[in-house]
This record gives sequence, structure tokens and C-alpha cells, in this order.
Amino acid sequence: MSKNANITSNSGAPIGKQQYENSQTVGRRGPVLLQDFFLHEKLAQFNRERIPERVVHAKGTGAFGKFVVTHDITAYTRAKIFSEIGKETPIFIRFSTVGGEQGSADTERDPRGFAIKFYTEDGNWDLVGNNTPVFFIKDAKKFPDFIHTQKRDPRTHCKSATMMWDFWSLNPESLHQVLILMSDRGTPDGYRHMHGFGSHTFSMVNSNNERVYVKFHHKSNQGIKNFDGVTADKMRGIDPDYSQRDLVEAIDKSNFPRWTTYIQTMTEEQARNFQWNPFDVTKVWPQKEYPLIEVGYFELNKIPDNYFRDVEQAAFSPSNVVDGIGFSPDKMLQGRIFSYPDAQRYRIGSNYQDLPVNACPFMTNNYHRDGAMKFNENGGAASNYFPNSFDGNHESVASKGIPYELEDTTVAYFDRNENDDDHYTQPGILFEKVMDEEAKQNTINNIVNAMSGIEGDQKEQIIMRQLCHWFRVSPRLGIGIAKGLHIDISEFM
Ligand code: HEM
Repeated sequence: MSKNANITSNSGAPIGKQQYENSQTVGRRGPVLLQDFFLHEKLAQFNRERIPERVVHAKGTGAFGKFVVTHDITAYTRAKIFSEIGKETPIFIRFSTVGGEQGSADTERDPRGFAIKFYTEDGNWDLVGNNTPVFFIKDAKKFPDFIHTQKRDPRTHCKSATMMWDFWSLNPESLHQVLILMSDRGTPDGYRHMHGFGSHTFSMVNSNNERVYVKFHHKSNQGIKNFDGVTADKMRGIDPDYSQRDLVEAIDKSNFPRWTTYIQTMTEEQARNFQWNPFDVTKVWPQKEYPLIEVGYFELNKIPDNYFRDVEQAAFSPSNVVDGIGFSPDKMLQGRIFSYPDAQRYRIGSNYQDLPVNACPFMTNNYHRDGAMKFNENGGAASNYFPNSFDGNHESVASKGIPYELEDTTVAYFDRNENDDDHYTQPGILFEKVMDEEAKQNTINNIVNAMSGIEGDQKEQIIMRQLCHWFRVSPRLGIGIAKGLHIDISEFM
């Protein structure tokens, strides 16, 4: 947008002040003339200002920054982003809440999205994680059902504690994530004061073609700060855009937030012998057995000049990996590989990857062509098919990947992963051993508060089913919740 210049229509015709503000009419009283093309252009453009909001994670905040390598992990990966200490890679991050619409409040109890796009020379690598190391479910097929319970009731169009707890109580694999969500980590004090996680198990391959499995952790250098439930509720009314404002103001004051990145690694042999399924996103890898290995840090230092252009149109996808970093058999991760580009072709349009925030700043080279809003050179006059006798393009070595063996050859709809019926041990450790007294009490209060919203003719069943799960996590947790809900448990003791 120029300054001190003429205003023009989209086709470049000069538009005067009168013409910009007033419709062209017959006489002072009207009617309005159909030939006022600028009136049509202005109203029609306005009618199309919104693109569909993201089906989840609709409310979010974005910023640019850089990732800096501080430790050598080339023993694990040949990805160029990690090739030498001191190397800097530009990044874009979008933080978000999950269930609410674009206008919803930032301090809702919800996981927070923590999506990072690394603009590496191998291509764009997206690590689309959350502020929690685990997730509610472990199979992508359950995702639409799960998200329906987080959105609005089909009849009342209100949020429904009944739907949420009904689903959770029928899917006990959600317990670990629900416990974290119900702790004060479910209401972080802005986006600067929370950790981030890749959550899934990914793989890394080094220059000798050796594979390890990895998990990513980003620890906030600002420290963890959370709202308790009461303050978060109040803040929803006082400043619904609390986290957005907090990040913009900090960066505008050059108070650049930083996170330190670590990985955990597991060899293929260790993965085979792990006590749980290492590809189950409802479980963590104990840090005592698989310690954190420091990698580098990232800093956010620029708020985009235009929110819509860079934040609303940003498209992150777990399918965007680079040579040296790959997937794992995690069923959720595999489902996400399909889901994100599909959502983005619908939400933004088929050429969404050409938009500045999504485009790889290094060369992309293929034979995809055309489609709505193709605004780059579209391959110019070059061949639009492969192989061809003209351009000399060839397959890259990196594309070959590393073969791996499957451990089973049975095809079926397995209702659970191998060796992972245990939904209770890890949440139990979290409650009993990791949380201090205050965290325990706040978590109990938050659960009581959230479960108090359950209503309807299935109320008792849902509450009792969920209460049984809480007891299996920890008797103290179960007793605390039962007391808070005024349920007499003496007959069960
Ligand atoms: C956004 C699907 C699980 C983190 C989205 C979007 C879809 C989606 C369709 C909107 C994408 C867009 O319009 O740009 C799914 C499915 C899942 C799943 C099908 C399960 C199979 C997860 C998990 C995490 C996660 C496990 C974190 C560990 C995010 C984040 C965003 C997002 C951070 C927002 C990205 C942004 O800021 O633009 N998800 N999701 N999702 N999802 Fe998932």
C-alpha cells in the first residue's frame, strides 16, 4: 500500500474522494446508478473478506523469529537446520486455543496450539504441536467425534459439559490429557509462559542412514505462569484477547520471548522393548530413562504487519517434513498427514502454499500447475510434465528415504494398540509425584467445577463412570472430586 499516492480501483483506475465515499446517483436524492462499478467492487470485496475459520484452533496469534542451534545433534539427524552450532533459521509461530471460535476468549480452559514453521534450506519443516506432551485420543478416526464434543451442542448451540465428560468417560485414554487440562496448565498466563511439545513420536535419520525415534520439547525461558481457574474465568470478561495482546506488546517493546528446544531419543531396539507403545500420543517417555538433549533456542521478534495475510492464511501441516526428520507409525500423526493439507485446500484454496507466509523461500520445483489464484510464475514456459526431454530435472537422493520393516502383517481395525491398555499409570504419576500440594488442590477444584456442568438423564452414569477413572488414577484424586461433587462414596470404601 503506497502513501501520498492516488487511490485506485483494483484494476488501477484512479478513484477520487467523492467517488470513494459517495454512491453515484441521479440527482441528490437518488436512485443509485448500476454503472457505479466502484460501489460494486467495494461491497463485493467486503462480502468476501472472511475465509472459513480453522475448523479447530480458530483463535490464534502469530509472530516471526529465528531458531538458533546451540548443541550438535548431527549424530541423530542430517537435517540441514541442525548442521552446525550457531546456525540460524527463520521461523514463524502460531499459538492458538483449540475449541473456541475466532472471537472466543484467550483464557478458556483448553490446550494451546504451538505450531512452528522452520524455513529450512531442505524445505519448510512444520512442527505442529501443543503446550502439552500428550493428546486426548490415539487414533485419527476418533478426532471428528472428539471435536464435536468440544464445540457446540447441536440443539442448544451452547458448549456442553455433558458431551465433553460423556466422551472422555467413554474414552479413558483421554485421562492423561484431561488431567493436564484440568490443572492450571489448562489456563496459561498468555502464550509466553508455557512450554511447547511436538507431542508425537517422530523419527530422525543421520548421514549414515541410522534411524532414531524422537520427541520434541520447547521450554519457555520466561518460566511457567498459569492463571488459577477463578482468575482465568474473570479474565475472559476483562480482556478476551489477553494472550494476543500480551505477545504483541512484549515483542513491540523488544522483550523477545525465547524457548529452549530439547529432544528425547529412542533407538529402534529401545522402541521394541519400551513398556508402553512408544508411538502412542497419550503417553510420555519418562525423562529419567530418556533424558532431554539440548538442541537450540528460538526467539520471536516480529509481529506480522498484517494479521490476515500472515496469521489467518498461515497453513501448518505435520506432512511438511524435511530430509533427516520423518514420521513414526503413530496412528494420529498418520491421520494428520492427510487432514491438514486437505483442510487448507478447502479453507484457503488450492494454491495456499504459494502465499508468502507458507512459501518455501528456497527453490520449489515441480509440475503442479494452475488452479484458482495462481499468482506466481506458474512454471512459466517450462515443461509441465515429467519425465521430459527438455529440462534435465532429476530425482533427488534425499527423496529415497530409509526402508523399514513392518512388525506385523495382519490387516484389521484394531480397537487398541498393542500393549497399551494402561490409561492410568502415567496420569497417576503426574498427580501423585509431579504436582505439588497447591497444584493437586487446584486440579481437584477445576475438575469439580467442570464436572458440575454435567446434566440430563445420563448425568449420574457419566459422573460415576468418570469418577471410577479418577479413582483408578489416584484414590486421593477420586476422593477429592467425589467430595467436591457431594457424592457419598462410603458404600464403595
Ligand atoms: C489445526 C486436524 C490432532 C495441533 C488443525 C486443523 C485441522 C486439524 C483440520 C486446521 C488446519 C487449518 O485449517 O489450517 C487434526 C486431526 C487430528 C489433530 C485430524 C488428529 C488426528 C492434533 C494434535 C495436535 C494438533 C495431536 C498437537 C499435538 C494443532 C494445531 C493447529 C491444528 C497447533 C493449529 C495450527 C495453526 O496454528 O494454524 N488440526 N488435528 N492437532 N492442530 Fe490439529
